[in-house]
Amino acid sequence: MDPLRRPLIAGNWKMNAGGSDGCDLAIAVARATTDFADADVIVAPPFTAIAAVTNELYNKKSDVAVAAQNLHWEESGAFTGEVSAAMLRVAGATWAIIGHSERRQLFHETDDAVAKKIAAANAAGLKPIVCVGETLSEREAGETLAVVERQVQAAIVELGRAGGEGVIAYEPVWAIGTGKVASPEDAQAVHAAIRQVLADANAELALTTRILYGGSVKANNAEGLFGQRDIDGALVGGAALEVEGFAKIVEIAAKLARQGKTG
Ligand code: PGA
Repeated sequence: MDPLRRPLIAGNWKMNAGGSDGCDLAIAVARATTDFADADVIVAPPFTAIAAVTNELYNKKSDVAVAAQNLHWEESGAFTGEVSAAMLRVAGATWAIIGHSERRQLFHETDDAVAKKIAAANAAGLKPIVCVGETLSEREAGETLAVVERQVQAAIVELGRAGGEGVIAYEPVWAIGTGKVASPEDAQAVHAAIRQVLADANAELALTTRILYGGSVKANNAEGLFGQRDIDGALVGGAALEVEGFAKIVEIAAKLARQGKTG
């Protein structure tokens, strides 16, 4: 973890905790992480809970921020079932996860759609968390870096517009929800390649953009990952629904950041 970049731990709740259970979970996360001020914490509830969760966190004066899990790139109009970035901003979200592999795979989201969504997030004042990552067959074919670099390149103009506020999450698809975590060294190699793509476009962007790892991050594997130079935190799925384990991941990130700062 580089002391230049504050660690960031984001909990992606996916299609879970979309009602009052989401408020309870957010408040429990806020309480359990309040002492770990050296790390930033985000929760990403389903659309249905964003306004209520934001409200609860605001009332409790919590620093935990709220992300949407997706958005539509148009501002408004005849797009049944879709939600715009501006609506999410009004509901209280300040971040948006964009291009998660479940969106890319199950809902056929292309690199082009991802770029349009980042642009919409930027325009509405939502900070993007842009997900990239290779499938198992791409990894086995030796295409990991090519795939990830293509996905980052497709997002880079809009990420540049977001400045250092934009975040990239490297999530190998084969590691998501499978319990198979990438080794810290393998993850670091991809993170370093992503940072190089950013550096080739804009040196400042490379220094300030946080790159998260995602894919079966748990309290028992977080330390090895966060110890890597280019891993600035995690996008956590399954373990984000369990308060104690999630808080432990935040605690580890905050501890390493403190150690980094004090040398
Ligand atoms: P996981 O999910 O932690 O359950 O593997 C990560 C994600 O999909 O963001």
